Amino acid sequence: MTAYKIALLDGDGIGPEIMTEAVKILDLVASRNNIEFDLRHGAFGANAYFAHGHAFPDATKKLCDEADAILKGPIGLSHEASRKIPVDMQPERGALLPLRRRYNTFANFRPVYLPQGLAHFSPLKPEIIGDGIDFIIIRELVGGLYFGKKETGINAQGRRFVSESLEYDEDQIARIARVAFDTAKKRKGLLHNIHKSNVLKSSVLWNEVMVEVGQDYPDVEVVNILVDAAATYLCLNPGQFDVMVMENMFGDILSDQAGGILGSLGLMPSACIGPDKAYYEPSHGSAPDIADQNVANPYSMIGSVAMMLEMSLGMEAEAQNVWHAMQSVFTQGYTTADLAKPGAQNKMIGTDAFGDLVVEELAKAPV
Ligand code: IPM
Ligand code: MG
Repeated sequence: MTAYKIALLDGDGIGPEIMTEAVKILDLVASRNNIEFDLRHGAFGANAYFAHGHAFPDATKKLCDEADAILKGPIGLSHEASRKIPVDMQPERGALLPLRRRYNTFANFRPVYLPQGLAHFSPLKPEIIGDGIDFIIIRELVGGLYFGKKETGINAQGRRFVSESLEYDEDQIARIARVAFDTAKKRKGLLHNIHKSNVLKSSVLWNEVMVEVGQDYPDVEVVNILVDAAATYLCLNPGQFDVMVMENMFGDILSDQAGGILGSLGLMPSACIGPDKAYYEPSHGSAPDIADQNVANPYSMIGSVAMMLEMSLGMEAEAQNVWHAMQSVFTQGYTTADLAKPGAQNKMIGTDAFGDLVVEELAKAPV
């Protein structure tokens, strides 16, 4: 029997609750497909810091090293609670960025998808949503400002100063460009390259390399848009996008905005792919304000399971079944409190009941 080792990093806040629902899906996928998932939980994030003195403990590193794929919940605490942890051990700097660096997960896929039947979740007008929203953000994930040189200190004038640099070399740009062109080729042959070359030299090099790599993809049309303009178009006409590619920080910001146009970051799963290892995570934070109340929607976590099935385990058809199962729960009118719109006709259920319904729907899909 095929067996896969999956590391489960539950994370903080709503992480453990939505991970529980993801595990229900994995259990069903295993039994339906006659495979085995060896699921091992590892401490990661603020909880790991408080329990083990490190946000990414060695035992978790080992677990991840040995895993075929990693499924990670959201991490982090409220701004105030975070301040109880030394700056470099706060979960983002102490766990998440080291995870990305360790496995060199340079290619971050963030699908932005809202079928027309779920258009009511979006704050955009129906005429702007049209047939629905369906594009993917490809974000470079291990370069740029996040991983560039950093310096803090006192300058010659006796003033505190900080300096952080946005660094890329041509190989780093070329490899994410190839991922973006390949993705565009598989979809509609349209690629929006997001940049800021009117100000940033990093974008000048980025665009040069995009053109060079693009020569191998004559069938892909490239549209270059400045990042600030792209932010506007996401609100005014998201239907024009199919695949968007951008550097790390731009991708952080625009992918949250993309969650906003769907109506919630809770609808944003993601895949973070490196040369040898990939991990899958919701794009959102740990929502400590709604943790332990059974109200968080597990869509982004279960969607991350679907992406893992497709991208790490070669189970494309089953991944589609998981997506359809989740969507059919929504189209039957069920939702959780975090996604509900005041006044809308929703059948409000808890996190666990939502997961159970997805399981029920998935069980109906032919294997
Ligand atoms: C994301 C998150 C992270 C990021 C944080 C938690 C460090 O916002 O994955 O988008 O900035 O990359
Ligand atoms: Mg972000």
